[in-house]
Amino acid sequence: MADRGVPATENAARRALVDACLQMNELGINQGKAGNASLRWDRGGAPGLLITPSALAYDAMGSDDIVWLSMATAPGEDGEPAPLHADGARPPSSEWRMHRDVYAARAEVAAVVHSHAAFASTLACTERVQRDGIPAFHYMIALFGGTDVRCARYATFGTQALSDHALHALQARLACLLANHGLLAVGDSLERALALALELETLSRMYWQALQLGEPVVLDAQEMQRVIARFADYG
Ligand code: 13P
Repeated sequence: MADRGVPATENAARRALVDACLQMNELGINQGKAGNASLRWDRGGAPGLLITPSALAYDAMGSDDIVWLSMATAPGEDGEPAPLHADGARPPSSEWRMHRDVYAARAEVAAVVHSHAAFASTLACTERVQRDGIPAFHYMIALFGGTDVRCARYATFGTQALSDHALHALQARLACLLANHGLLAVGDSLERALALALELETLSRMYWQALQLGEPVVLDAQEMQRVIARFADYG
């Protein structure tokens, strides 16, 4: 996955989102209408984001179906925040709050992807992982910024509560699991966010496999700090 950085035009950004979603399917980390993706995208000085539409299968999605939303919100009809401006023929992903809130809280994030990857979602359905997250059973856990990958508490999809829980679990991390749901990965580009989602699914499969054989050995905090320091100047 080559890192193409920030797209030059809004059309290129829309295309990049469609491509990233198709890639999620090809990589086997999502299927059907599940999942969503977004890119931070300001319009004429107004902070905002481009996001996939709700309930549209990726193979039926074109760049015109991508929705632009303002970062600014106001109380909506249901009492939850709603975007001040939404520009698109289709409704935005039901998870737009989760995407928007990540951009609002984390200036370094340029892209967010959410998928129902099978192994990550499986782990996120267990009491153990909901409580402890995925520990440092493998040194690659450091890729996500710390000594574990946390699991956000369960809340109904598309709610402000789910967004709040996800933001909490993402603190100082580039990915988290969502209880009884899936995964969320963020990055400074769409390619980075997608690569991290794939890495998290791979590690989830390994952790699940290790759990079948016994109690996985967890690397201690000191070793993980060494790995994190090494990652700082690795590739
Ligand atoms: P959307 O189609 O509304 O993006 O919802 C899919 C999903 O995965 C909800 O969590």
